[in-house]
Amino acid sequence: MNPLTFEYRESALVDDVDIAHTASALSEYQKHLQNVSHSVGYDFAESSINLPFDTELHQRVADCARDKDTGNLKYIIVVGIGGSNLGARAVYEGLRGIINQPFPKIIFADTLSSKLFDDASALFEGLKEEEILVNVISKSGTTTETIAFGEAFIAALKDRMPRIYDRVVVTTDEGSKLWNSAKEKNFALLAIPKNVCGRYSVMSAVGLFPLLLARVNIGQVAEGARLLRDLCISGSLDENIALVSASLIHIHALKGSRINDNFFFIPELESVGKWYRQLMGESLGKERDTEGVVVHRGITPTVSIGPTDLHSMAQLYLAGPRDKFTNFVVASNIRETARVPKALTFPGLVGGIEGKSFVEIMNAIYGGIRAAYCVNQIPFMEVKMPSASEYTIGAYFQFKMLEMMYLARLTGVNAFDEPNVEEYKKETRKLLGS
Ligand code: PA5
Repeated sequence: MNPLTFEYRESALVDDVDIAHTASALSEYQKHLQNVSHSVGYDFAESSINLPFDTELHQRVADCARDKDTGNLKYIIVVGIGGSNLGARAVYEGLRGIINQPFPKIIFADTLSSKLFDDASALFEGLKEEEILVNVISKSGTTTETIAFGEAFIAALKDRMPRIYDRVVVTTDEGSKLWNSAKEKNFALLAIPKNVCGRYSVMSAVGLFPLLLARVNIGQVAEGARLLRDLCISGSLDENIALVSASLIHIHALKGSRINDNFFFIPELESVGKWYRQLMGESLGKERDTEGVVVHRGITPTVSIGPTDLHSMAQLYLAGPRDKFTNFVVASNIRETARVPKALTFPGLVGGIEGKSFVEIMNAIYGGIRAAYCVNQIPFMEVKMPSASEYTIGAYFQFKMLEMMYLARLTGVNAFDEPNVEEYKKETRKLLGS
């Protein structure tokens, strides 16, 4: 059963007829996605939808993890940026939170921060080789930030750990310069299928390998994704929530709401929001349409966290320009642990909280903002999931990746390239004199 409940009828302020009309423009593309789903290998731009079904891939990832997991692993350093980092990070932080992360922990090195480098180096003082694993991830194999951090980090570790090369796994395109260079040095290698670009790669070795090492049940992540893949390429609007949500976002964008706010009332999912930001930002933000005409299209994704951002952004959202369409993400079955005591230390300040669980209070806060959006006629859709689990996050990822493919098709842009990111990468290399 679909773990995601998608609701919009009362709140999105769009007629069913308009949704059906918009969705019907995608019927050919849906057929194409169905064909892709029946294909073997990764021949299509959309082939990432087959990753969760790829048992050979899961086997390769499991074999590599078995080789590298010494049973005494404490830290996995993921050196990668953008699509080579955000998916694994979203799952990891969604499940483990920020504070209580048991060993083996993942440290995400996605920025060239000297502080991060120094702090990580200090953390590894006194560690043995078997307690550390470095996973350098870069699809292109030539991203400046990743290669610079990876070089500096491996060099620093090499001084103390003569066999550190055995503790490095490189994930990249087969045949990339990084692949060839890593092969020469006998590093363990994991391949990213050619047609799977960074922001659609979370279900490949890019996301699966570090997560498996960190004891995440990647089988469940894939299972959630498999279910949503099948539902979201199907014909029926009742089941195909990606088709409906893409239609809603598109209709609102045409009416001028070109900001898509993703408002998570599950704070641990903030990184899922950041993953989505890349997915939407890079997939839809285009200078040219698929015909080559200059169009400067895009929808701006934002991430808000409830209730934190009610105290920073709600004023703007409720009273400011009507340029946003919101996607609320809420949990319907969070385990109730924390509770306000019956006997209060500060009685008489806030009524009605004594004895209530945090979940009950959070539900009231969500109910409050939901009601305020309705009263103010601010359009929104809602995704409810039982809780943040491997299964629900996997399902959410696949739902959103298919939503994005539909949206790109509706807006007439290529969902899978990022020519202008390449532009900055080239300029950087020039400035560095390479
Ligand atoms: O979606 C994309 O392809 C990009 O944003 C990349 O993920 C990002 O630039 C990192 O590139 P690479 O994985 O080649 O190092």
